[in-house]
Amino acid sequence: MQIGFFDSGIGGITVLHKAIKLIPNEDYLYYADTLHAPYGEKSKEYVKDLVFHAVEFMTSKGLKALVIACNTATSAAIGDLRCKYDFPVIGMEPAVKPAVELMGNSNKRVLVFATELSLKEDKFQDLVKKVDHRHIVDYIPLPKLVRFAEGFQFDSPKVQEYLESILSGINMMNYGAVVLGCTHYPFFKDLFARLLPKDILIVDGNLGTVKNLKRILTQNNNKPEGTGQIDFYQSGVKIEDMDVVRRYYGLMERLDRMDNEKQAEV
Ligand code: DGL
Repeated sequence: MQIGFFDSGIGGITVLHKAIKLIPNEDYLYYADTLHAPYGEKSKEYVKDLVFHAVEFMTSKGLKALVIACNTATSAAIGDLRCKYDFPVIGMEPAVKPAVELMGNSNKRVLVFATELSLKEDKFQDLVKKVDHRHIVDYIPLPKLVRFAEGFQFDSPKVQEYLESILSGINMMNYGAVVLGCTHYPFFKDLFARLLPKDILIVDGNLGTVKNLKRILTQNNNKPEGTGQIDFYQSGVKIEDMDVVRRYYGLMERLDRMDNEKQAEV
C-alpha cells in the first residue's frame, strides 16, 4: 500500500520531498487538487468538502497512511478525517511553537505567513494562544504566492515585486523568525532569504511533519514495502503525460538545489 500526500496543488511536494529522503522505502500517491486551488481564499465548509472528495478517491487506491500536506486543508478537515478513516491521518500546522522557542527571551518577534483561511481558523488562533505567552507572534496572509507557485513562477520579477511590496510595509528589524505556514511557500525560500535581513530564521514544519509520519509508521510496526515510487494525480486524474510528470520531479530538484545551497552556506 502507498502513503498518500494531499495538497490543494503543488505545495505538498515540499513535504513529500522530505518524506522521500527520510522514508525512501515506501511508495507514495501524491494528489494535487489543482482544479480547485487555491484553497486559502475559499470558505472552510467548501474546503472541507473538497478535501473529503479527494481523500475518498485516494483511499480507493489503498493507503497505509495519509499526510494532509496542506495547512489550510488541515485546519478545515483534520478532525473529521480522523473520525472517518482508520489509517493514520497526519496533519500540518504552522511551526509557531518552534519559532517562539527559538526566540528565547530575546526581544525579537515572530512573523507567520500562511493562507487567509488558515490564519482565521480556530486551529491557528488556539495554537497562538497556547504557545505565545509573551505576545510576540504576528501574522499575515500571502495569497498571491500560492497563485505564483501554481503557475510555476518562482523567480520572476513579479514574485519579487510582490514580496518586496509586502515586506516594505513591515519593520522586519523587529523580527527574529518568519514561519512559512503554507506548504507552497518553501518553494520561495531562497527569495525570502535574499529579501529578509540576514539574521532572520526561516522556519517551516515540513521536516517535523515527516518525522511525525515516520514515528507513527514505526509505532504501527509498519513493514516498508516500496522504493520511493510516486504516482501523481491531479484532481482525480492520474498524470500520464511525461512532460507533466517531469515538471513535478523538477519541483523536487528545485528543492534539492535549495537544500544544497543552504548546506553550502553553513
Ligand atoms: N498549500 C496549502 C497550505 O499549506 C494551501 C494553499 C492554497 O491552496 O491556498 O496552506
